[in-house]
Amino acid sequence: MSGVEVTVEGLSKSFGRANIWSDVTLTLPPGEISVLLGPSGTGKSVFLKCLIGLLKPERGKIVIHDTDLVRTSESKLYEIRKLFGVLFQDGALFGSMNLYDNVAFPLREHTKKSESQIRDIVAEKMDMVGLGGDETKLPGEISGGMRKRAGLARALVLDPEIILFDEPDSGLDPVRTAYLNQLIVDLNAQTDSTFLIVTHDINTAQTLPDNMGIMYHRHLAMFGPRELLLTSEDPVVSQFLNGRREGPIGMSEEKDTDERAAEGDTEQAELPPLQPQLKPLNGVERKAAGRRLERVIGTLQTLPERAQQAITESLTDDERRRYGVNGGAPERAQARSPVAMPVVGHEQRHSRWPFSRERS
Ligand SMILES: Nc1ncnc2c1ncn2[C@@H]1O[C@H](COP(=O)(O)OP(=O)(O)OP(=O)(O)O)[C@@H](O)[C@H]1O
Ligand SMILES: [Mg+2]
Repeated sequence: MSGVEVTVEGLSKSFGRANIWSDVTLTLPPGEISVLLGPSGTGKSVFLKCLIGLLKPERGKIVIHDTDLVRTSESKLYEIRKLFGVLFQDGALFGSMNLYDNVAFPLREHTKKSESQIRDIVAEKMDMVGLGGDETKLPGEISGGMRKRAGLARALVLDPEIILFDEPDSGLDPVRTAYLNQLIVDLNAQTDSTFLIVTHDINTAQTLPDNMGIMYHRHLAMFGPRELLLTSEDPVVSQFLNGRREGPIGMSEEKDTDERAAEGDTEQAELPPLQPQLKPLNGVERKAAGRRLERVIGTLQTLPERAQQAITESLTDDERRRYGVNGGAPERAQARSPVAMPVVGHEQRHSRWPFSRERS
């Protein structure tokens, strides 16, 4: 099993007259981990629900395996949904069922597996999330962190090719969040599934994903490789990733001009150095990491200088030799690229994945 590509093109969603976001365009590369950030209420959960066909966007496409989910039949949608494992934000377990029955639920619902097959799968997934032995406990009897992990086990039982997690780390203490993130990286290495994770945790955003995006002001303000956002000087992106009060994002979405002016000329704080990306334990390699590197190197010249530098600095000596990169920037990217920045700031209305799809 390996992850599949998810392509979203020009997607718009409204409820009645309230537009949530418009013209969202991005590609989740197969097997990679992507993180979606954004202020509360910008429609991140709505986006995940559109991806699995629970909500219907008015415009645009969501393409998986050559099928456009926005326009396909109910029966085809039902089939495609089996590719997904989802951990909803409020993704409550069934309170009256013990953990075993909760985790077994999708198997009983969607497959014709025998109870003994189900037992093996449930045991495997419960072990994977460190809940082996807790099968008979009720959700009300365990901690918040354990409930999250049980939700995770349930999201995994159908061996999903695409995994969507809506704030898996909310309400967890920093140590548990660190364990959870390690678990996600290990899972990704094991399954090569495509991950999209919504989080508000800056440390998660800095260390977990291959790619990141930010929803802001009714559009996808930016989406691309982690280095692109983590080195971005875009006011919205850097305010968000540094958790600062100063910047365009206000308590209720966007500050007005007066509020911004009152802040005066706030110095752009120096960005902290990039933290290294989490790796799987025990020296396991993620298949997606190799594919991603190929692609990122192939399109390095289209990225802003700071992102290029962050990427080349993260290479091993071996990788530098292989890709003809020396020291700071790769030779062919040393001259400032004439290509316009492939990403959009919030003055533009949509964001394109800066990599050409033909490369994957
Ligand atoms: N089924 C629905 N009907 C009408 N409006 C909805 C529905 N679901 C969500 N909304 C609205 O869409 C907007 C975005 O909600 P959403 O839950 O996606 O935000 P979010 O980015 O996930 O926020 P948070 O970070 O707080 O979870 C909100 O204004 C919400 O009220
Ligand atoms: Mg949400």
